[in-house]
Amino acid sequence: MYNFEFYNPTRIFFGKNKIEVIDKNIPATARVLITFGGGSAKRSGLIDKIRTILGDREVIEFGGIEPNPRYETLIKAVDVVRSEKIDYILAVGGGSVIDGTKFITLASNYNGDPSDLLKFGFRSISLDVVSKVVPFGTVLTLPATGSEMNDGAVISFEHGKFPVMCELAFPRFSVLDPTITFTLPKIQVANGIVDTFIHTVEQYITYPVDAKVQDRLAEGLLQTLIEIGETTVAEPENYDARANLVWSATMALNGIVGVGVPQDWTTHMIGHELTALFGIDHGQTLAIVYPALLEVRRDKKRTKLLQYADRVWHISGGSEDEKIELAILKTRSFFESLGIKTHLSDYGVTADKIDLIVEQLGEHGLTALSETGDLTLDISRAILVKAF
Ligand code: NZQ
Ligand code: ZN
Repeated sequence: MYNFEFYNPTRIFFGKNKIEVIDKNIPATARVLITFGGGSAKRSGLIDKIRTILGDREVIEFGGIEPNPRYETLIKAVDVVRSEKIDYILAVGGGSVIDGTKFITLASNYNGDPSDLLKFGFRSISLDVVSKVVPFGTVLTLPATGSEMNDGAVISFEHGKFPVMCELAFPRFSVLDPTITFTLPKIQVANGIVDTFIHTVEQYITYPVDAKVQDRLAEGLLQTLIEIGETTVAEPENYDARANLVWSATMALNGIVGVGVPQDWTTHMIGHELTALFGIDHGQTLAIVYPALLEVRRDKKRTKLLQYADRVWHISGGSEDEKIELAILKTRSFFESLGIKTHLSDYGVTADKIDLIVEQLGEHGLTALSETGDLTLDISRAILVKAF
């Protein structure tokens, strides 16, 4: 196991009706900005309920944060935070609203051009660059990204999606009430399962470093998703299935699975380009790229793939190559069983667009991906060809 440091200050409130806790966790005198998306939280009555819980506090709303939140939208909220002297933000939504809120709070306290904050990539923005933020909490409405308990955000700007990380961007608290997610369309639930699955495997199917706890945590998450996946898509109000999805999603990307182990974020990096170019949902892009990536990288990932075949899918018969083949097939079938298509061509993308995708990866400096940095643009191209 590699050396590591672990820090996560987000307080979690999990369960039915936990939303009441926001009263005690936001100062009584705070001027609160509620950030939200395209309207689902309004239509469900969630925002009204939150306003009631906030009581006499001064509350301002900023809605319209779109999926794959755009810089131009978020900058408008930065103006509101500054002009209205906001001292607490409450993000009500999925990954896009929470990520957008992280960017809003960082940019509100940055003195230069806020687009500078998009240039750090996976390097954490230091306290010399942004030294304080407006504190924020979240009410999660979509289990998928883990943004409710991590310090990362992904922001859309011009023709790309840019990761932003900063330890000041951890939510102070997050409310995880599975019943709030009952109104999700089936496709978003399926996207969330795939996103959680891929976050887990990108920190697990690399090469072994004898990290037994992290491996078994990852295997537990994957087995949970396989066990509850179809049920929670088919039965949106099955509380137990949904509760297990919500906690899996948070656990998959709050840092715990990934400590002290190699990580391979290739699928996310290629997936971000597919969203930026063609508007394909984040979860769907991952279901397109990952099975193809495993096909192309099966030798590099051989030992962990065999462990995955054995411990996650319980494949015992056949040669090693056959076990790996079957594990890849089962992975693809799992995504398809949730209603998510796994080929680029299923989304109307034509083969001639592969050049453009590779070009964009190059433009964004994504030329040495994977757990060892050996994944060149030519290998990305091979993955995209397989994914077609
Ligand atoms: O905007 P509204 O009207 O609220 O509708 C949303 C949106 O259209 C809807 N929705 C959310 N909760 C709902 C609901 N509809 C009905 N009932 C509810 N309870 O769902 C749609 C998608 O929402 P979005 O927030 O975009 O989805 P998700 O949570 O999957 O977030 C995706 C974003 O997160 C980024 C992705 O790149 C993408 O931009 N990621 C963030 C990460 C992080 N911060 O660590 C890691 C991830 O890998 C990911 O990259
Ligand atoms: Zn993701």
